[in-house]
Amino acid sequence: MAEEKMKKGISRRLLLAEAWSWLRWLAGGLLLYPVFRFLGYRAPRQPRLVKVDKAVPVGGFALEHDFVLFVDEKGPWAVSRRCTHLGCRLNYQEKEGVLLCPCHQSRFSPAGQRLSGPAEKNLPRFAVSIQREGESAKGYIVTL
Ligand code: FES
Repeated sequence: MAEEKMKKGISRRLLLAEAWSWLRWLAGGLLLYPVFRFLGYRAPRQPRLVKVDKAVPVGGFALEHDFVLFVDEKGPWAVSRRCTHLGCRLNYQEKEGVLLCPCHQSRFSPAGQRLSGPAEKNLPRFAVSIQREGESAKGYIVTL
């Protein structure tokens, strides 16, 4: 009888030890989950809408802080002013018709294509929608 009680005690003790071990693993996982989640979490980037409150004539351009808006017969388009080499702000050289980087002289076409210089990638293009007043454009909204 006493031997049977002792066996029951040992098996209960083993069961409790095993359960405690699993509980510790579970608690550790629950505590570390938010930390791993935080370390790997990246907030999704929200698109930014920029309004250009002026009509740009066909063949013209508008130089904004983050982009250059061009308009031709086919419609408007916008390219980033951030150089794909190291991120300097590009200037538009109207006479030559190129975007020129003041830092290391990378050159890009108005379409955003890399022409020369240390930059290896083309410029990103942004979506443009036209705000109309009757038949003519009164402004543009660029989605960055
Ligand atoms: S940052 Fe534009 S070429 Fe280097």
